[in-house]
Amino acid sequence: MKPTLPQIPDRSARPGFFVSFEGGEGVGKSTQIQILKNKLIELGKSVVTTREPGGTKAAEAIRAILLGNEYHQLTDRAEALLFAAARADVVANVIDPALADGNVVLADRYLDSSVAYQGYARKLGSEEVKVLSLWATRGLLPDLTIVLDLDPIIGMNRVSSPDRLESLELNFHRLVRNAFRELAQNEPNRFLLVDASLDTNEISNIVFDEVQSRLAL
Ligand SMILES: Nc1ncnc2c1ncn2[C@@H]1O[C@H](COP(=O)(O)OP(=O)(O)OP(=O)(O)O)[C@@H](O)[C@H]1O
Ligand SMILES: [Mg+2]
Repeated sequence: MKPTLPQIPDRSARPGFFVSFEGGEGVGKSTQIQILKNKLIELGKSVVTTREPGGTKAAEAIRAILLGNEYHQLTDRAEALLFAAARADVVANVIDPALADGNVVLADRYLDSSVAYQGYARKLGSEEVKVLSLWATRGLLPDLTIVLDLDPIIGMNRVSSPDRLESLELNFHRLVRNAFRELAQNEPNRFLLVDASLDTNEISNIVFDEVQSRLAL
């Protein structure tokens, strides 16, 4: 039976703005979030950043299981559920309240990572995993999702000490890259695909231009 999407509550009146950064390992997500955060703060915006998995006490505990190198027997379904559980907790306790207070929220990974990693690359089904995540988050989607697109060979070379997921073989990371590209293509209004092989400043200018125009800064 094909799962149906849960009813999505209308959050269109929320005063905040929600941006997620997606892409494979070492593509520059954390670097770009820090730069964008500083630019927005200079313009007087209040900014809240989160990273996945993590951001609350419970979500950080789940992170230790998900990324710890001692949990190699974790099943794909258990992995998908743990990501969704951590996301449910951070949305309810951090992201939703921050958006309601008018903050710009910058998320280092969000539900598209689950769709790409567990849905496509682990082959659990992109639609099923998206439904699971939308259930967990009560339907919260970002206003804008930046995908930093990079050949995983280059990305992996930028990563110094690989965690459990980063240690997976190159082919897995190729599937993840293709999944993000497909997601961006399917939802052009929400996604911006950026060439992450450009230099850091060039990328940050592209990202800032997009955020500026969406936020009418
Ligand atoms: N555009 C870029 N060109 C070259 N190197 C970069 C670029 N952006 C970031 N880096 C470098 O690549 C490394 C990984 O960057 P960063 O930690 O921001 O990526 P990430 O996507 O957050 O990685 P992870 O998946 O490990 O969290 C860092 O050493 C960073 O300085
Ligand atoms: Mg990072």
